[in-house]
Amino acid sequence: MASGRTALVASVLLSCIVVSSAFNITTMLNQFPSFSQMNQLLSSSGVANDINARKSITVLVVSNDVLNAFTASNPNVDTVKMADLLRYHVLLQFLGMDELKALPTSNYTSVTTLYQTTGRANNNDGFLNIYNLPSGFLIGPSVAGSSSNATVAANITHEAFEISVIQISSILTPVGFNSATGDLIQVLTKFNVYTMFISLLKESAVDSIFAGRQTGGGITVFAPTDSAFNSLASGSIQGLSVSDLKLLMQYHALTSYQPLSVLQNMVNSPVSTIASTIASGYLLNVSSAAKTVTLHTGVSVATIQETLYDATPTTMFGIDQVLLPSELFSKAALVPSPAEAPVPEAAPGPKEAKAPGAAPDAAPGPEKPAGSTASVVSMSVVVSAVALIASSCLAVLLRSWSEECNNSVLLERSVW
Ligand SMILES: *[C@@H]1O[C@H](CO)[C@@H](O)[C@H](O)[C@H]1NC(C)=O
Ligand SMILES: *[C@@H]1O[C@H](CO)[C@@H](O)[C@H](O)[C@H]1NC(C)=O
Ligand SMILES: *[C@@H]1O[C@H](CO)[C@@H](O)[C@H](O)[C@H]1NC(C)=O
Ligand SMILES: *[C@@H]1O[C@H](CO)[C@@H](O)[C@H](O)[C@H]1NC(C)=O
Ligand SMILES: *[C@@H]1O[C@H](CO)[C@@H](O)[C@H](O)[C@H]1NC(C)=O
Ligand SMILES: *[C@@H]1O[C@H](CO)[C@@H](O)[C@H](O)[C@H]1NC(C)=O
Repeated sequence: MASGRTALVASVLLSCIVVSSAFNITTMLNQFPSFSQMNQLLSSSGVANDINARKSITVLVVSNDVLNAFTASNPNVDTVKMADLLRYHVLLQFLGMDELKALPTSNYTSVTTLYQTTGRANNNDGFLNIYNLPSGFLIGPSVAGSSSNATVAANITHEAFEISVIQISSILTPVGFNSATGDLIQVLTKFNVYTMFISLLKESAVDSIFAGRQTGGGITVFAPTDSAFNSLASGSIQGLSVSDLKLLMQYHALTSYQPLSVLQNMVNSPVSTIASTIASGYLLNVSSAAKTVTLHTGVSVATIQETLYDATPTTMFGIDQVLLPSELFSKAALVPSPAEAPVPEAAPGPKEAKAPGAAPDAAPGPEKPAGSTASVVSMSVVVSAVALIASSCLAVLLRSWSEECNNSVLLERSVW
């Protein structure tokens, strides 16, 4: 009975070996107790099977102490993410020491990882760059804003030219990998009403920039709903240049972690967005009344609808309007809502860059110092009220204007 089972297992194993390659990563790593943790993870995640099914690959391994330190500081990695992280350490080409030494020294070499084959990697996140430097070899993520490079520490073993096992100094994490803070795109996807924001983030590659901040500095993201995008005049987003789209997307995030409780205590406080870090201006005014937080751009006013994610150093909120920076848009990009007050008798100015009239929120004045006194606070409440009235008047004016003009005219952008 037992020997029959053994024979069965043996023949199954044999057929596995025959149909796949000649190596077994588990057996290979069993000879090196200092990699036992990684070996165990490769098996339990099933990635060992993926490796064994391949030919001509390189497995980057880290020692037990490095892996333990990583798992201790990233305690909530789910099994899918952990498996993808391991796949990020499997290069789809054979690189022994000789091959590494033969790599060009004038430029890095980009290599595909097994992670790239999963379809879960954004853009180039599934590639690694190898640098052949006089000081040694460096391996690092191919996307800017990601974690740092690992150095090649040792040649562990190989079976030429099937599999090479190389020790590196640290775990490499793809952009967006941060268990503690969550993958923003994945979080957004779950809600179903942020599909346009997701696709614009990906199109502009700002998703990687946001992900990069999750591992350094922190971030507060404001995600407009699909209906917010649909309420824009058609073509207003599509007409943006690549770099302006990037700025628009980066305008939807603050450069630090600001949870709801903090935002709820802000009164017309101009805050920097990520766009402010690469271009002047692009400030956002945050104010709140009765726990409702509104964001004023000078062109549009959005209200926070829900918290989508909150874990230091990342927080993300759903908002009901697209944040249109005055640096890129005039009020004309907003389609006036059908229920408006009667049209007052006034003609808006011609196609001037800024929305006409004296609406206080249409012309962001010079930035005031953040420290606000009681009089500034009450003043700002009055200013907000005036701004609200003025902006609804303006919307009415714009509607009457829009009856004579085409969208294409209305969508003219204030700044190039
Ligand atoms: C590889 O080796 C391990 C133990 O050394 C074994 O459990 C596993 O079944 C082997 N895999 C294959 C595909 O032979
Ligand atoms: C360096 O290599 C990358 C890809 O491997 C390539 O895109 C880039 O143009 C190269 N740069 C130079 C200066 O050759
Ligand atoms: C990795 O090292 C290379 C070569 O020194 C460097 O150009 C690159 O910016 C480094 N990447 C990171 C993320 O530190
Ligand atoms: C790398 O390791 C393999 C297997 O142990 C060995 O045959 C080879 O000589 C080593 N290469 C170098 C450059 O150390
Ligand atoms: C933002 O707040 C500042 C200071 O309270 C104010 O001067 C400015 O007009 C506000 N801008 C907008 C667009 O609300
Ligand atoms: C607006 O577009 C329509 C057709 O799309 C055209 O007939 C009309 O003349 C245009 N009006 C203006 C003011 O450009």
